[in-house]
Amino acid sequence: MLLTSGQVSILLSSVIVFLFTLALFLSGYVLQQRTVHSLQAAIKPRLPKPLPAPVPVAPPTLDVKWARPIGARPDVDETYEQYMREQALNWNRLGYVQMVKEHVEVCSAVMLLGDLHKMKSPAKRILLFPRIWLKKTEDDEFNPHLITTKRLLRTAVRRYGVVLIPMETIVDGADASLPSSYSLASLYSLTNYERVIYLQGPGTLLDASALDSLLAFSKSEPMAAFPASADRKALSTLLLLIHPSAEDFGRLKELRSSRPLTDLELFRKSFAAPESLLSQWSLSMGNVVYESQNLRNAIDGFNATIFEDATTYVRFSDPEIPGPEYDVPYYDRVALRPKNDEARAAWEKLYERFRQRRMEICGLDLEVWTKPMLQAGSADEEDVQEL
Ligand SMILES: *[C@@H]1O[C@H](CO)[C@@H](O)[C@H](O)[C@H]1NC(C)=O
Repeated sequence: MLLTSGQVSILLSSVIVFLFTLALFLSGYVLQQRTVHSLQAAIKPRLPKPLPAPVPVAPPTLDVKWARPIGARPDVDETYEQYMREQALNWNRLGYVQMVKEHVEVCSAVMLLGDLHKMKSPAKRILLFPRIWLKKTEDDEFNPHLITTKRLLRTAVRRYGVVLIPMETIVDGADASLPSSYSLASLYSLTNYERVIYLQGPGTLLDASALDSLLAFSKSEPMAAFPASADRKALSTLLLLIHPSAEDFGRLKELRSSRPLTDLELFRKSFAAPESLLSQWSLSMGNVVYESQNLRNAIDGFNATIFEDATTYVRFSDPEIPGPEYDVPYYDRVALRPKNDEARAAWEKLYERFRQRRMEICGLDLEVWTKPMLQAGSADEEDVQEL
């Protein structure tokens, strides 16, 4: 069959048209597919990058150190600027307070205030002490404890700009020479201050900025205490963030006058948990308060560097020894210290650092300690201290 040239050209042009149509269709298809893909990608919720595999750390509350909560504060819908304006941040109205009821506590309190000074905290440093120590008596010159106390109080003022505030017994007319006549309730008498933080000693401060943030960016509430346990059922006196007021002071004084109560009992009766506890958010930032005995529970993978970076304040709380002020004989120390290598290094460093600072700040060596023949009962340590 022969095709005429006319037929050939028609056939050719049909083929060409078909090819063009096919090409057009294919490119359109590809384009459409691409668009669909990019649409799908745009619609798809962004998945967060996979988190690195959890590293086993002990204790379980370990987390990154507090970032200064600039702007990133939840539960506050104002902008940061508005918030700051309202706060009218006045560091003269914010303070760290230590309370000493007896002479042995003075050095540790001054050390803590000295640490805050060294770490350049802008808040005031306040020390409450029994007014009776100011009273001049005949045998003052012969009381070595009083002599040391007076020297340390002078050091606190001169070197660390500490504000000294003499306090009265919590119950009017009580024996002013007894430590048990004084109460943490007297913190509420500091009404010149908007907010104060009390830390239970003896302890070591590893980072002041986290506490400064807590002091500066918290709302003023009668009580925000460190919880006694993770279940948030009760408060502890390890760390108290309070808004002093004459009203609360009067209420606490009245309750305490009605019957003898330890400070812990008094505060637990007066401030309900969990409302009067530090917020979960504040506590999620790291170990705000860490008790030294917990280092004994450290598990494999515990890292001393990470621990120190994530910890704000360590309270010495090893129940077998009366405190870091005491020189514990080598073999007793070996029996007490954590078994985990890293945790042991952290534990020994904390005690050694305390010993050195005690010498630097107070000019005091460790006290001699003799191991008691019988261990004290298993009563709550805080209660024992406060009795
Ligand atoms: C602890 O962590 C730090 C910082 O992450 C790291 O440099 C160091 O090697 C770790 N130490 C040990 C013993 O794993």
